[in-house]
Amino acid sequence: MAQFTKEIENRRTFAIISHPDAGKTTLTEKFLLYGGAIASAGMVKGKKSMKHAVSDWMEIEKQRGISVTSSVLQFEYDGYCINILDTPGHEDFSEDTYRTLMAADSAVMVIDASKGVEKQTIKLFKVCMMRDIPVFTFINKMDREARDPYELMTDIENVLGIRTYPINWPIGSGKSFKGVYERDQERVLSFTYNGIGHEADAEITAMDDPKLRDILGDELYNNLMDDRELLDGAGGDFDLDLVRHGKLSPVFFGSALTNFGVEPFLENFLKMTTSPLPRQSDAGEVDPFSEDFSAFVFKIQANMNKAHRDRIAFMRICSGKYEKGQEVYHVQGGRKVKLSQPQQMMAGDSEIVDEAFAGDIIGVFDPGVFSIGDTVCASSKRFQFEGIPTFAPEHFCLVRQKDTMKRKQFVKGTSQLAQEGAIQIFQEIDGGMEEVIVGVVGTLQFDVLEHRLKNEYGVDIIMERLPYQYIRWVSGENVDIKTLDISSDTKRVQDLKGNYLLLFTNSWNIQWALDHNDGLELQEFSR
Ligand code: G4P
Repeated sequence: MAQFTKEIENRRTFAIISHPDAGKTTLTEKFLLYGGAIASAGMVKGKKSMKHAVSDWMEIEKQRGISVTSSVLQFEYDGYCINILDTPGHEDFSEDTYRTLMAADSAVMVIDASKGVEKQTIKLFKVCMMRDIPVFTFINKMDREARDPYELMTDIENVLGIRTYPINWPIGSGKSFKGVYERDQERVLSFTYNGIGHEADAEITAMDDPKLRDILGDELYNNLMDDRELLDGAGGDFDLDLVRHGKLSPVFFGSALTNFGVEPFLENFLKMTTSPLPRQSDAGEVDPFSEDFSAFVFKIQANMNKAHRDRIAFMRICSGKYEKGQEVYHVQGGRKVKLSQPQQMMAGDSEIVDEAFAGDIIGVFDPGVFSIGDTVCASSKRFQFEGIPTFAPEHFCLVRQKDTMKRKQFVKGTSQLAQEGAIQIFQEIDGGMEEVIVGVVGTLQFDVLEHRLKNEYGVDIIMERLPYQYIRWVSGENVDIKTLDISSDTKRVQDLKGNYLLLFTNSWNIQWALDHNDGLELQEFSR
């Protein structure tokens, strides 16, 4: 029992977010090195091909290989068992990111010190805020010419709207980067560059050590003294409670490539974050330390291995322990299932697991029964975790198969891809599946759809872009979708769950519908 509690207490599950190229992969790799999960840098797969795939969707197969191998990594460090969730950097996959964040308890945001907050940082950060999870900032690439640190902090505060608290403070940058001042310990971690591809040396010197002036040089030493005073005077106190509620972001400066400042960051991060927290369900809060196993599906990845035509459902364990061969109850499916071949990812290799605890992510073989958001739990308990919202798609296509003989494959393919969350599909009200309206958040998803239907289901499709830009789920008492007073270019549809929606060509028409229909409510996402 004590061991069971300890296992969960030591779990830390977080996601890493960044604008492409800020250094997410490099930082992850350094974490893994500390954990001893990999022997040398350069083993985290997919860095190069990921970039390639984003600009060239024909490489989508490759890209999925990466998002899988790097989607969940587990390693141990200093008595902690750490689960890192990777998030796709491309904005077209922000829905995927949201789902991944549902499985995380906190996020690490990597920022390039020469660029500050970038477009994709903003998008990803917003997604974190939707869940109020703690966000830790790592300002990377201090070994290169960087923007002024005060400016970087202001940028984060103003653009992202979160308060910041620097845990350490950089001394110079680029060629004159001398290290960081660790505020709490009143000491300097000095940086000695050892050339490209080599780790930097890091040495500790106390602030009151007379040698410090020599190490930093007069100018940087004097600047540091001023900065220290300013930081202590200006910033508010560090408040861990605010951090844990996503209201204050602890900021760290460092250089992932030269492995400088990464270990102190990891150590602080592990201390400031919590073990898995309770999750909400329709039967109240679910305690992670409860002995009853429960988990929810946050991601489904089909055909990871083409030779096997398999589908993997990724689950976040929310309470208890999973043991090999255990039978669980699939709430949405209404029946017992055996979780087959649960896997965990270790630096790119998957391993079959015998046991896993609250906080862990397991990938189980899915014979086509799971959907995103589904709950599985011990047979004696039957509750559902809060659903994962579906985002409003912004691009729409009418899709049908070229060869009408392939109808079966077409229906199977589109339904499975929708179940997986890769696309959303809508139908005419009371219509069939001969042709469907596909909605996506980012247009790259259309390419994925076409490519995957052809390659995995053998179906060629015809896609016709539709002029709609907005979609709203319809609700409200006494509202009948069929008799709504709407403009002629607004379309009535339904989703796979039978919910009614309206497609609009412009935002003006949304207002028009609201103005002309008493009691009508329009939702931007459905739960
Ligand atoms: P990402 O996953 O966020 O997209 O970024 P990634 O780690 O791939 O890093 C992007 C580029 O930035 C890489 O260079 C990487 O080596 C470099 N980089 C990461 N951290 C640091 C740092 O602390 N300092 C410096 N100077 N560079 C850093 P690349 O040339 O694109 O790739 P590669 O040839 O190094 O593989």
